[in-house]
Amino acid sequence: MRKAARPIFSQALQLVSRPSVVSGGAIWGNTHLPLHQIQIAAAHSTTDVHRPLDHSSRSLRPWKYSSRDIAGYHNLASQEKDLDPFALVADDLDVVTQRIRDYVINEVPILSNAADYFFRAGVEGKRLRPTVLLLMASALSVVVPPGEVASAAFADNLRLRQQRIAEVTEMIHVASLLHDDVIDKATTRRGVGALNMVMGNKVAILAGDFLLARASIRLANLHNTEVVELLSTVIDHLVKGEVMQLTSSPESLLSFEHYTEKTFYKTASLFAHSLKAVAILGGHSAETVAHSYAYGNHLGLAFQLVDDVLDFTSSSGLLGKPALNDLQSGLATAPVLYAAEEFPALVPMIKRKFKNDGDVQQAELWVHKSQGIQRTRDLARYHCELAAASVHALPPAESERQEECRRALLQLTDKVLAEARDGVAVAMYAAQAFIMGGDS
Ligand code: FPP
Ligand code: MG
Repeated sequence: MRKAARPIFSQALQLVSRPSVVSGGAIWGNTHLPLHQIQIAAAHSTTDVHRPLDHSSRSLRPWKYSSRDIAGYHNLASQEKDLDPFALVADDLDVVTQRIRDYVINEVPILSNAADYFFRAGVEGKRLRPTVLLLMASALSVVVPPGEVASAAFADNLRLRQQRIAEVTEMIHVASLLHDDVIDKATTRRGVGALNMVMGNKVAILAGDFLLARASIRLANLHNTEVVELLSTVIDHLVKGEVMQLTSSPESLLSFEHYTEKTFYKTASLFAHSLKAVAILGGHSAETVAHSYAYGNHLGLAFQLVDDVLDFTSSSGLLGKPALNDLQSGLATAPVLYAAEEFPALVPMIKRKFKNDGDVQQAELWVHKSQGIQRTRDLARYHCELAAASVHALPPAESERQEECRRALLQLTDKVLAEARDGVAVAMYAAQAFIMGGDS
């Protein structure tokens, strides 16, 4: 495994301990802390650092960093271009997809067809979430608890249980998309007609409910209450994030904290909590569990920031959904919030959710004229570096396979960033069925 240069590596270890900010507090490791406790947690973190910890409130606002501030944090991620993370777990991924298809068979054919809609070949997306979970499962050692015998059967059973997390997570994700498309009156998803358009709102909602119900049964069958609680928290957060988005006050629409909190609830929480569940099932130490959570949290935040950039830079053909969708829906994402610092006339537009004639076009123009897109990419890179740092902070790998899967986790951070970099990368990865929007 490529090791980062020593100063950067120790810097990375420090960064793992840094919080990801949510409104009025932060996600520190795996815990949501109010602001005053973050100061205490920061004060107790590692001191062997290249860059001293900044305890000012600014350190809790990474989006306030300039590109120069963030520049020191790059090169932690892998530069391995040949490794294909998806190919590494392709067999597992097929098993997971087939099991999901089996779970959603129901005596009511219309429900089976509807629930199966986004698991069919060609519209299953790139399955980023199960891929990340399966890679993390393989990147960690098999811990044999006292009283258990280290055997192939033990390892196989653990693998089966960790695959279950991948299955349940993907089912929750697709259920949330079915409901989201009803709320958003979406017409397309993953390049095909949204289910609400094809089968109507009622069937789409019930199909989402059915997926959640089946996912809950599969989850409960693991007989691990901590893991049940983690995945239930994901559902709670998805709903919370969606409601935050629907009910934002004009003032909160201008707040980067509000945007970051919503992004955590809607996107990063699922990555973070399901990765935590994989590590817990594996019987790992609290530190390893926290690193697994941190990887998911930061990758999830970066993934969404890049998605928000692509809404401005990509075509609807590549996204599999309409471009400029966020502005049209009245949403001010990171590129717009940054642009408003340079073009204050954006502020009233954000508050009125771009409702007036010409608002969307003018906002688009200002975003492209401003540093908004670049600053959002920089922030995504910052989160990717934190995700990479979490992988570097894992206990030493014990096999070639573990090394390889860790490199693949690093490679994923590169791929997320490559998506943001330019349209060429998007086109290239599209050919490899790696379209960011295509996974939504
Ligand atoms: C996509 O958002 C939607 C989500 C990430 C989550 C939606 C959550 C709910 C509808 C709450 C219900 C949850 C469950 C589990 C049933 P988007 O509209 O910003 O993205 P898009 O462009 O991909 O539609
Ligand atoms: Mg939507």
